[in-house]
Parts: sequence; structure tokens; C-alpha cells
Amino acid sequence: MHELSERIATKSTLFYLGDGKVEMAQGQALLAANPGKHFLMGADPRLPPLPEKPTLIDFFKARFATTAHLLQSAAHALKTGQPEKVVLACLLHDIGVASFIRCDHGYWGAQMIEPYVDAEVSWAVRMHQALRFFPDPSVGYEYPELYIKFFGDDYKPEPYIVAEYERARNHKWYMSARLITMNDIYSFDPNARVDLNDFVDIIGRNFRQPKEGLGFDNSPSSHMWRTRMWPTRFL
Ligand SMILES: [Fe+2]
Ligand SMILES: [Fe+2]
Repeated sequence: MHELSERIATKSTLFYLGDGKVEMAQGQALLAANPGKHFLMGADPRLPPLPEKPTLIDFFKARFATTAHLLQSAAHALKTGQPEKVVLACLLHDIGVASFIRCDHGYWGAQMIEPYVDAEVSWAVRMHQALRFFPDPSVGYEYPELYIKFFGDDYKPEPYIVAEYERARNHKWYMSARLITMNDIYSFDPNARVDLNDFVDIIGRNFRQPKEGLGFDNSPSSHMWRTRMWPTRFL
């Protein structure tokens, strides 16, 4: 907190949009309101610290707002004997939601992990978002009951989601994305505890952790990890 008393943490436009306002923090005005202070250009002391070379596990612990759903989905996939690729996809399928934003979370999550996982894993994470809305009787997947509660019984997915589903339906990796939806169950026992440690080996074998740390390896998604690390940096 001491550090924050010297530095100004800035809320980006996205935070304001979430409150229904098209606004942004104005640098000069903020400085005038905080005489003698500078803007925060690094770690926000209010958030749990990340190590210098953060790993996926570090992000699970310090930046994912909830991990129970991810862990339970992965545990379910493991229990039903799915291959490690599918278990990893289940473990990561909603990291877009857990670390950043709900809208188009499958796409955000897939881009975060794309440089570090098998292409089939990121493809499945991207596509589970669309497939979730479409039943597949051949494998016993039904439209989720919960979605009727969430979105109303007249909700129809937008045309871009329908088009994505149709493309995915004919893709060679369709079943990997479908398996995410089949393990994507909201009604697990809320008391069931799954330990992240149970997946450390699967992560180790299937997630190419960069030696520089996530955010510092100059990959196409490094900035996404840095932004989650430092969400209130001024620039
Ligand atoms: Fe999802
Ligand atoms: Fe999910």
C-alpha cells in the first residue's frame, strides 16, 4: 500500500465501459488531483505479486479469479480417460473469463495459449464457445439447461456463432472441442476440491512454458499475459 500511496493506478476504458460509461482516465486531470505523484508503471501493490519469470501455474494462483470450474472440468476429463491434450484444453478452456473478460472468452483464451500448446488445444478452446450452444445427440450433448436460465428460452446465438459452429462441425478436430463442452459441467459438487497440483505434470508435458516467463518471451501473446500481470499500468 505504501507504494500505491506514491503511485497512481489507472483504470482503463474497459473498466468504465463495464459500468456503462464511455470514459477514460485523463492523465493531466489525474495528476492534478494527486499532486506530487506519478503514475503506476509496473506491478499494482494491491494485487498478488507474480515472480520475475511467471509460469502458467503462477497465473492460476495470482490472476485467475476462479479456478474451481477449470479444475473440475479437467478432473472430469481425466476421470473419463481423455487424452492429455483434452484434459489440458478443459483445464484452460475458460481462462479468458477467469482472467479477463466474458465476451468472446473462447477467442481470448485461445490466443493467450496459442504459442504454447498444440494447435489442436487452442483450436478446441476457441471453438468450445460456439459449440456450447449446439446439441450433438450422437455423443449425448444437450443444450445446457442452465443456459435457459441464463439467457432465456428465446435466446438465439448470433450469426457469427452459428457460422463458427458450422465450420467447427466439419473440422478434423471437432471432437476435441466437443469434449470440452461435454466436460464443461456447472453442476459439479460445489464441495468437491480439485488440486491444481494434480495437473502439474500434464501442464509440464503439454504447455511449453517459456524460460523467460509468460509475458517476456516475445511471443504473439506475451502482451496478453503482461496486461493481466499489470492491469492498472498507465501505459
Ligand atoms: Fe466457456
Ligand atoms: Fe466452462
